[in-house]
Amino acid sequence: MKKFIQNLPKVELHLHIEGSFEPELMFKISKRNNIEIPFKSVKEIEDAYQFSCLQDFLDIYYQGANVLQTEEDFFDLTYAYLTKCNDQNVRHTEIMFDPQTHTERGIPFKTVINGIVKAQVKAEKEFGITSLLIMSFLRHLSEEAAFKTLEESLPFKNKITCVGLDSSEKGNPPSKFKNVYQKATEIGYIPVAHAGEEGDADYVWEAIDILKVKRIDHGNNALQDDKLVAEIIKRDIALTVCPLSNTALKVVEDLKDHPLKKMLKTGLKVTINSDDPAFFGGQVNKNYEEVQKALNLTKEEIYTLAKNSFKYSFLDDATKQKYLNELETYYNQNK
Ligand code: ADE
Ligand code: ZN
Repeated sequence: MKKFIQNLPKVELHLHIEGSFEPELMFKISKRNNIEIPFKSVKEIEDAYQFSCLQDFLDIYYQGANVLQTEEDFFDLTYAYLTKCNDQNVRHTEIMFDPQTHTERGIPFKTVINGIVKAQVKAEKEFGITSLLIMSFLRHLSEEAAFKTLEESLPFKNKITCVGLDSSEKGNPPSKFKNVYQKATEIGYIPVAHAGEEGDADYVWEAIDILKVKRIDHGNNALQDDKLVAEIIKRDIALTVCPLSNTALKVVEDLKDHPLKKMLKTGLKVTINSDDPAFFGGQVNKNYEEVQKALNLTKEEIYTLAKNSFKYSFLDDATKQKYLNELETYYNQNK
């Protein structure tokens, strides 16, 4: 099964580039920029990665991102992630980045995006991996701050495909960002949002009805409401599920209790993703492997998950079909 997962062509649809920041690279960049981090070794960093909820994690995640200063830093970060994609047979990835985590510290928007884009271009040339960007607003900040970020993104509009919403969910419902999403959608960005990770089903309702998202990031708590589940299925909206993130942040106590199999059985379009792999103990393939073992998923179910990753990506239809044909051939030869 491990080999089947390793060689399976796949897409990653839920990945925060700041969450792919591995401790080794964090040390290297902190030295290069002469910025202190409150850890003496990689081991100390790893030991600190024990979380009891989303906010616990976010506090450490924003601290790590502080060492990122130059275009070269954002390039190194993104290229390291795309190299890992290549190692795992990820063919395409839709990368979230949080501009406000950096602009709030005085790092210009263009430094962030230019570094990321350079790595995207190099990885496509070297590995044939395609990628697109999801510019995520921090929901603990105001809608006004999100509007400012939207404005700053305009000179780079052709480099960004989607807008997203992340950070502290409870107390910051999707409706808080109604106007900025409306504007972003008019501009041509595709709306997605984190919803139902720690927030209840009503946050997911708001994400689909008010923000009109085309994909839901996490969405676990949608299962609280059968009417909502039926609506998500009817509107053909996929969920980007992140099993190891869910256990690390105590959204799910144990992988054996993960609702993924139930989601598949109900007809929800589910995909498997790593969220913040440097913090949650595994890249996308590890997420497939661990959840497969915990829930005893069949090769057919794994195939469905990979199929969903292509189908619910924002690739054009012809490219999707090409990948789906390749995936079907792979499955038929290896099932
Ligand atoms: N930012 C990075 N990872 C996140 C997550 N899992 N939920 C909300 N915001 C995030
Ligand atoms: Zn996330």
